[in-house]
Amino acid sequence: MRTKFKSWAKPFIDEHPEVIMTLEELKSREGTFALEIGSGKGKFLIDIAILYPQEFVLGIERNVTCAGITAKKLVENEVTNAKLMLASADEILPSIKDETVTSIYLNFSDPWPKKRHHKRRLTYGTYLKQYYRVLVKGGKLLIKTDNDDLFAFTQETLSESDFKILEIVDNYDGKAEFDAMTEYEISFREKDQLIHRIVAIKE
Ligand SMILES: C[S@@+](CC[C@H](N)C(=O)[O-])C[C@H]1O[C@@H](n2cnc3c(N)ncnc32)[C@H](O)[C@@H]1O
Repeated sequence: MRTKFKSWAKPFIDEHPEVIMTLEELKSREGTFALEIGSGKGKFLIDIAILYPQEFVLGIERNVTCAGITAKKLVENEVTNAKLMLASADEILPSIKDETVTSIYLNFSDPWPKKRHHKRRLTYGTYLKQYYRVLVKGGKLLIKTDNDDLFAFTQETLSESDFKILEIVDNYDGKAEFDAMTEYEISFREKDQLIHRIVAIKE
């Protein structure tokens, strides 16, 4: 699902700082929040924010067109408890304070099939270390994927990490609490593709 470049995306983001979190704001932010990494076109981010108005949700997305589409949805839906950062997760994670994130959502992350690219997978050990550091005690890492190889790889990296795996579901029905469908998920479900889910906790 390639997203066609939209020239309005970056100007729209620049004109709507109210839906964008700056690095300074993130560094000085008080209170906990939920985090989605690779938020794509923003359906999940916005649905979770609307479903759980008491939560603050931050989306990180590095693709400018996807980020622009999400920013537009945040503005149009007048969402005030979610914001977006247009950046790569590895640039942002070090600026998040220890034990301030309640949940981290990785929805249909890029599978990076070539072995030499495995370090880029969002469930590679170095990422898991950062997630563990920023999560509050009892905080969860929630992963959905259609990709068998990424599913197996993630079980392995998690088992080598400090996380405790709570759930491994081969054929996830999409009905868990604190979840919403993403754009990719809708497309996979329409094609009857299996969705896998892993939930891990920082005890
Ligand atoms: C396969 S898409 C899934 C999008 C969305 N989560 C969904 O399920 O519909 C993966 C998204 O993650 C973004 N992404 C990949 N690596 C990233 C990173 N390191 N930091 C931020 N975004 C990333 C990509 O730009 C892309 O929009």
